[in-house]
Amino acid sequence: MKSQSVMRAVVSGASELDVDLLVVPTWESDTLDDVPGLVAATAGGLSDARSRGEWRGKAYESCIATVTKKGWKPRRVLLIGTGSPQQSIERVRRVATVGMLAARARRVTSVAFWLRGDSGVGLNQFAEAAAEGLTLGEFESGSWKTETESHAVSEIVVATGTGNSTALNESVWRGRLVGSCSNDARTMANEPGNALTPAVFADRARALAEGTGLRVEVIERAEMETLGLGLLLGVARGSAEPPKLIVVHHAPESSPEAPVLGLVGKGVTFDSGGISLKPADSMEQMKYDMAGGAAVLGAMRAIDQLRVPIRVVGVVPATENLPGGRAIKPGDVLRSAAGKTVEVINTDAEGRLVLGDALWYAKRCGATHLVDVATLTGGCVVALGNITTGLFGSPDRWVEAIREAADTAGDRVWPLPVFDEYGEQIRSDIADVKNTGGRAASAITAAMFLKVFAGDTPWAHLDVAGTAWADKPRPYQAKGPSGVGVRTLVELACASGSWGEVGAGSD
Ligand code: BES
Ligand code: MN
Ligand code: ZN
Repeated sequence: MKSQSVMRAVVSGASELDVDLLVVPTWESDTLDDVPGLVAATAGGLSDARSRGEWRGKAYESCIATVTKKGWKPRRVLLIGTGSPQQSIERVRRVATVGMLAARARRVTSVAFWLRGDSGVGLNQFAEAAAEGLTLGEFESGSWKTETESHAVSEIVVATGTGNSTALNESVWRGRLVGSCSNDARTMANEPGNALTPAVFADRARALAEGTGLRVEVIERAEMETLGLGLLLGVARGSAEPPKLIVVHHAPESSPEAPVLGLVGKGVTFDSGGISLKPADSMEQMKYDMAGGAAVLGAMRAIDQLRVPIRVVGVVPATENLPGGRAIKPGDVLRSAAGKTVEVINTDAEGRLVLGDALWYAKRCGATHLVDVATLTGGCVVALGNITTGLFGSPDRWVEAIREAADTAGDRVWPLPVFDEYGEQIRSDIADVKNTGGRAASAITAAMFLKVFAGDTPWAHLDVAGTAWADKPRPYQAKGPSGVGVRTLVELACASGSWGEVGAGSD
């Protein structure tokens, strides 16, 4: 999302902030003593709210009061509960999103978010988290409505009483960048299948790269045939829309030869299931089956803008999965670019097919470390629900690096095993592997399939089937596409110092 609004950091007293709404985090038995004069400036509004039990500081609960005192510039103050006085980066980010959603609902023109306390974590990191959260709160999901009720706030301030304004503005810039790249990914995931075809997806990648140092390469069908991308071509056969392999290169001058981070994102712009057609109920949701690919594209833009000093290559196999007259059928055998043959048992297990060829392509581009992000299995949703992303991969040290990056970024992930024994479930009688492993541990057998194509290269897989879309709104998250994965991938690219040495088989 290209936002029209401006955001900046301001170091000043709270009374000096000339905004419609001042958002202040609060907690149980909070006195607000560190924001001198604020309680008094509301002519008893806040103290009354406290005695009525309206201001309790429970997580995401809010309480609003009008500022009446002469000399105080903010028009109103909105307290938002953090649940506990212990501030964390994650909490600050979420409370900031709650603040922005409230500011938009109240149709204000300007909003300031007040940073409080730093209990061990630096103020600058809080400023970054606040900027990120505020930006995430700006996401607009109803963009196809002809009459929109939606409101955008034009002036956004991250404010604090102390701190270095230059450093704070730098943090706000970073947070805003990562937030807006997440929103870019959300915008793409939100697009209907008829609007975001593989060709349009490729155009979006080019548009995102405009004015950056990224180089975008789009591999067309003819070249896929030359390269032998039989899995991607196979899935695309059922559709009239030509497939695109979108490749985005971040190769800063004087970057070291290794590591090269390969980010692979599932880009199925609509998944009907193909000949193994899905039931009609909720099939419309399958427009977001390219959320992993969108996350990779969003992350690539942030990685470029943050001047990450290592090479990163993003690979997004984009296609529809439809049951056309030339579609692949159960029983068909496809030959992958890697040379392995695949028996198609279920055409609805298309994600692992397109990713198999994409992982091969990322390695061909020199990737020494792989991560894929994919709305891959309903089984992962059964296992972890809509809260947690499934994490798979090997070696363990590489998986651990992704886990750490996700923790820092605030994406919830949890590891599931890829023990060799699970590989038995995808053994085929006629080909090297088959594309389904039955009902048992279906998220794991999908990962086992990808592992065949990752080979010896350190590889991790994020199954975001349950986390890429919020079915219901939460106080800190709008209903709709979540942008999951973007922040984790950016964090991982930034942290190469801690994983660059991880090699194949090093546990
Ligand atoms: N795109 C789906 C997985 C999915 C399910 C994403 C729910 C988001 C929400 C994937 O292509 C799929 O159809 N997977 C099948 C595989 C099965 C046929 C082996 C599944 O998990 O049911
Ligand atoms: Mn499918
Ligand atoms: Zn799919």
